[in-house]
Amino acid sequence: MSRLLPLLCSLALLSAAALRAADAIKIGEYASLTGKEAAYGETSHKGIVLAVEELNAGGGVLGRPLELITEDNQSKQGESATVVKKLISRDRVVAILGEVASIRSLEAAPVIQSAKIPMVSSASVNSKVTAVGDYIFRVCFVDSFEGNVLAVFARDRLRARKVAILTSVSNAYSVGMTRVFKERFLADGGTVVAEPKYSEGDKDFRAQLTAVKAAGADAIFASGYYTEAALICKQARQLGLSVPIFGGDGWDAPPLLEIGGAAMEGTYFCAHYSPDNPSPEVQNFNRRYQARWGTLPDAWAALGYDSARVLADAITRAGTTEPAKIRDALAASKGFPAVTGQITMDAHRNPTKSAVILTIKDGQYKFVQTVAP
Ligand code: PHE
Repeated sequence: MSRLLPLLCSLALLSAAALRAADAIKIGEYASLTGKEAAYGETSHKGIVLAVEELNAGGGVLGRPLELITEDNQSKQGESATVVKKLISRDRVVAILGEVASIRSLEAAPVIQSAKIPMVSSASVNSKVTAVGDYIFRVCFVDSFEGNVLAVFARDRLRARKVAILTSVSNAYSVGMTRVFKERFLADGGTVVAEPKYSEGDKDFRAQLTAVKAAGADAIFASGYYTEAALICKQARQLGLSVPIFGGDGWDAPPLLEIGGAAMEGTYFCAHYSPDNPSPEVQNFNRRYQARWGTLPDAWAALGYDSARVLADAITRAGTTEPAKIRDALAASKGFPAVTGQITMDAHRNPTKSAVILTIKDGQYKFVQTVAP
């Protein structure tokens, strides 16, 4: 008996754990955890994990634990659609979190929409993402807002009148940002003097930058992601172009500084989150994230965290895990206290939120200003 008792006890513990697992609310996540874009996929995932752990430690949602089932799309085209199909039919998740990058959200959203499962993107700003359908939400601002913020910043703060725009034509995010920026900049009386194009993965931008130089631009908008933006800044400075260069939130990842080095000094970009923000919510989140992961959170970590909490709040208000009811509750999200700012969904499933402008000084991000909607 003395030998049997521990065995019986561990069996009892095991079945309690199994029961809890059987009872869990399954949430899917698709993210770029490996490959070219792992830099932000990983932090967004860590933010989501922290949120799920905190929620479970607090008794779960509807009295049940959350079970996060994560699929890696390897930063590869085509993989996001494949992995969300698995989450839906194999795992039978009730909702899906992801992605950071608009190009991948745009790929997975149609699959998720047709399965009538709610999706919450953490950071995809492209307008077309939530336009896919009524089950698709995001917790970040939209490119139409961000493009306006940058156009006003370029005119008022940089005093730019003649801007050159470099666009990655193979990236929907970059194409969208260019479109909205240009519309506003022209409407405010500015001119766009050069619009050279490139594609994802390009490495040599000297031909495009020579055209920018000849056009006499007084500022340059690099509307794509960080890898190409860093190379653009570097080669612009090598060609003797000293005008201000700026970009959108697609710049916000560590490789920007690693690749661009000194050429990034004095450049600007628009961001979702700054850990330097003194607000108690932000400072508190910084401490909890740092205690869990050993580093300060970046924007993608903060938005990932918010996406999971907004979803959990919707499930709580729905009072059920039926996807259609969760959808309705998500659409009714109002004044949710997220770490990246309050979240109220508009009729198009987009929140209205502030943006921050950051600059790079002495190899570090430095807060410039907050821009309210
Ligand atoms: N907001 C970007 C998008 O919509 C997300 C992103 C940021 C992607 C940084 C890459 C790097 O695509």
